[in-house]
Amino acid sequence: MSDVLAYGKSGSALLTGLNTIQAAISAYMAEFKLIIFLRGKEPTEDIQKFAAEKDIILFSTTDDMFPACIKLAQLVDKSINVEIVDDEDKKNITIHKFSIDGKDFAHAGMVSTQIKTILKKIGYDPQLVRRVAISTYEGEMNVVMHAKSAEVTLNAGDQEIKVIIKDQGKGIPDIDKAMKEGFSTATEEQRAMGFGSGMGLPNIKRNADDLDIKSEVDRGTTLIIRFKV
Ligand SMILES: Nc1ncnc2c1ncn2[C@@H]1O[C@H](COP(=O)(O)OP(=O)(O)O)[C@@H](O)[C@H]1O
Ligand SMILES: [Mg+2]
Repeated sequence: MSDVLAYGKSGSALLTGLNTIQAAISAYMAEFKLIIFLRGKEPTEDIQKFAAEKDIILFSTTDDMFPACIKLAQLVDKSINVEIVDDEDKKNITIHKFSIDGKDFAHAGMVSTQIKTILKKIGYDPQLVRRVAISTYEGEMNVVMHAKSAEVTLNAGDQEIKVIIKDQGKGIPDIDKAMKEGFSTATEEQRAMGFGSGMGLPNIKRNADDLDIKSEVDRGTTLIIRFKV
């Protein structure tokens, strides 16, 4: 653990086979955001409580250090592409771009997770962050289930947060119908994974201050989701 304190960079992930409270405390001291317990070790209740208080994310894997590192590297490489643009005229807006792969359930939700982390870091009201995160997650799941790929743009400003999810895919033939609670074309397999109850788009609408959907059959769908700050 002294190595962590000596060499760890803030914002890092700690991969460890130690499930003692000191692992969590070391992570907290070194400003780590994520602990991954290796070799099937699971965080104790003490660790879970501590991590929840300190906003540290906990994962557990049966993998050992090397395969876990490889998987982590692939995960980061595949799903996350962050670009921060400083616009001279709009000083207080940061723009972040991400991409989503359709059908990639293993990474589904990673973009929303990143967005939530960014918004929390900027310091928006937690209730607002929650609404943006939930809406983005529903939009991301829709891309994974119903489209081929998408580009996500987050515009985080001091007046407004705007999330644009622009996908390539089959499009939505009847948007009014798709907006109805319970309407879904999800397959049995997708439902078995806990999605596809037809509540996604209505949920986005409910959480957002404004939702604009444009869709072209066989081309794709664009959601523009806005939140007042
Ligand atoms: N990005 C998308 N591309 C194509 N079809 C979509 C997309 N998003 C939603 N849909 C269509 O709208 C329906 C309703 O979406 P939603 O309310 O999120 O419910 P669910 O995803 O649970 O089916 C989907 O079943 C699908 O037919
Ligand atoms: Mg959905």
